[in-house]
Amino acid sequence: MNSAELDRAVAILKRGGLVAFPTETVYGLGADARNPDALAKLYAAKGRPADHPVIVHLGDVGQVVQWAREITPIAQKLARQFWPGPLTMILKRAPGAGDAVTGGQDTVGIRIPSHAIAHALLEKFGGGVAAPSANRFGRVSATTAAHVRQEFGDAVDLVLDGGASDVGIESTIVDATGAAPVLLRPGHISARDIEEAAGVPLAQPTAQSPRAPGTLAAHYAPATPLLVMESDLLLELAATLTRQGKKVAVLARSALQPLVAGITWIAAPADAAAYAHDLYANLRTLDAAGCDAMLVEQLPQLAEWAAINDRLGRAAAGSRPPSSP
Ligand code: TXA
Ligand code: MG
Repeated sequence: MNSAELDRAVAILKRGGLVAFPTETVYGLGADARNPDALAKLYAAKGRPADHPVIVHLGDVGQVVQWAREITPIAQKLARQFWPGPLTMILKRAPGAGDAVTGGQDTVGIRIPSHAIAHALLEKFGGGVAAPSANRFGRVSATTAAHVRQEFGDAVDLVLDGGASDVGIESTIVDATGAAPVLLRPGHISARDIEEAAGVPLAQPTAQSPRAPGTLAAHYAPATPLLVMESDLLLELAATLTRQGKKVAVLARSALQPLVAGITWIAAPADAAAYAHDLYANLRTLDAAGCDAMLVEQLPQLAEWAAINDRLGRAAAGSRPPSSP
């Protein structure tokens, strides 16, 4: 990206337009976080309910006080350890954080991304950029500029292209308003990483914990019905459906061999970081194949797979139920 393109992006944000940009997690659809008209445009483009809060992205930690009124000791520790990076913290909002970014809650979500283009954009813009993941509400997130264009077409004024996002899944979200951190969304920074940096164990969410409405049971969903299952069952079901004349897509990590021809098959990486990096691109590729079902091989129930298992569970819950035979 050249500096003329960066200038254009900043000018678009300043006049209330929408700029999609790469981050190390996924692409964000950005708008000026202090401009209610720009935020209304953002919510309309995403098809997102107006009471859902959105993360405010900042270029440096010195700006946090403009958005949060209280930076707890836990927040300071986590900021030192993980910012810039794939961590979002929920803090008590400052008066400058309006209802349009907080969804009317008393808290605000803040992230300082590490991606060079995101950082350059935020630094040059100089203020907060509200950016949800650059996908239509409830659908699969975007990890390339091409994904963003598929989602939004002309509804976004500019897409900055930074290649494929490194991490591939959305940031870890931690409620850092209290004496102990609460994990609201798992991510690349693990529960263990948070506990180590905070020096105290995670607390469980309570009725008072901030709502994270985007962490709905059904989210990240392809249009094709998605089912997660063990490999032996997957092979059996794939063969049965194929015999019935159905088109089947498979995402499997182990060296499984399709028993029957004609299955759209993606061999996913065995390693968790590489699997996450490719996850949304793989779901999009399989979805585009127009199959009757998408079968995803069950992953290990281990800490390093927690964030991926979380996303796949929501993708399965959010996809269309398989049509009855
Ligand atoms: O990696 C990411 O976090 C990406 C990149 C673009 O930064 N962004 C992202 O935004 O995933 P989004 O809007 O798709 O998901 C943000 C989640 C939503 O579940 C939202 O409800 C929650 O963060 N959230 C934001 N502000 C909040 C707040 N004040 N209290 C509770 N949850 C909040
Ligand atoms: Mg999202």
